[in-house]
Amino acid sequence: MSERLEDIALAMVANGKGLLAADESTATIKKRFEGIGLESTETSRRDYREMLFTADEAMRSYISGVILYEETLFQKAADGTPLADVIRASDSIPGIKVDTGAKPMALFAGETVTEGLDGLAARLAKYYEAGARFAKWRGVIAVSEQLPSYGAIKANAQALARYAALCQEAGIVPIVEPEVLMDGEPGNHSIARSEEVTEEVLRITFAELADQRVKLEGMILKPSMVIDGKKVRTASVAEVAERTVRVLKRTVPSAVPGVAFLSGGQSTEEATAHLSAMNAGHDLPWALTFSYGRALQTEALNAWGGKSENVAAGQRAFTHRAKMCSLAAKGSWKKDFEKAA
Ligand code: 13P
Repeated sequence: MSERLEDIALAMVANGKGLLAADESTATIKKRFEGIGLESTETSRRDYREMLFTADEAMRSYISGVILYEETLFQKAADGTPLADVIRASDSIPGIKVDTGAKPMALFAGETVTEGLDGLAARLAKYYEAGARFAKWRGVIAVSEQLPSYGAIKANAQALARYAALCQEAGIVPIVEPEVLMDGEPGNHSIARSEEVTEEVLRITFAELADQRVKLEGMILKPSMVIDGKKVRTASVAEVAERTVRVLKRTVPSAVPGVAFLSGGQSTEEATAHLSAMNAGHDLPWALTFSYGRALQTEALNAWGGKSENVAAGQRAFTHRAKMCSLAAKGSWKKDFEKAA
């Protein structure tokens, strides 16, 4: 495979394929495992992720790349094969989450700034050596009537741009993820508020990317959808799609090869329906696909339940969901396909 940033970025979003976000931190995966009554250990985390990465049809047909947590990039499958090689064996690309988390931002109550730039150049060299060809950094923007502040948007955008520049210099495609949270309270997180905030965040993010000389052809944007907060959600699928596409067209240069959404706590079917509606009715300058965590994994995790005898059931659930998301990336998902499963 070509090592050019442009070619890797295109491969990440081509042919209705998308990304599996399996980069939950140790604290987050512990929470997910608690939901199925499973203890989180190095081995159970490995077993779970190996179950996903060896689902051959899903990986080969629908998943262009996998975002890994650092532990997983250096882990081996039960038979001793590095998990990065397991991913590559199905022509999928290993990637790595490189930020060290959103931390409370000094003097900005209720807001965070994402850390992880110190020493990042050296870490990227190590990740490249281990096979990673793309990376992810997530900035988090909280929404209320007062938030976000300009200062917090700017600090997060600048960190994203500095990270993206470091990645490109290391031969790694940066996924730039400015996540506008979707869990707002009634009254302060309507879909109109989401649209206004998302537009401002993307404008400032692309301004910082330009200032840091980031090559747009060699990056992927991972945004949140324009959607009302989950405590008030009433917007239709069509409205989420219309508003999201409108904001992206206003803010994302056409030189960017692809946009891969996060799911952000939408149900698996909501996240699929929204993506499909965006692709179905619009003339778009970039590929629009998925980079889902929960919206790809929830059903697989439940079907697997931490039991080795359920590996095939977990893989079937994952394959179904990956196929639905891939259909959505081509604009041809239909609700009936869910029932067929
Ligand atoms: P969700 O799709 O569960 O939001 O996770 C995607 C992700 O990588 C968030 O950083």
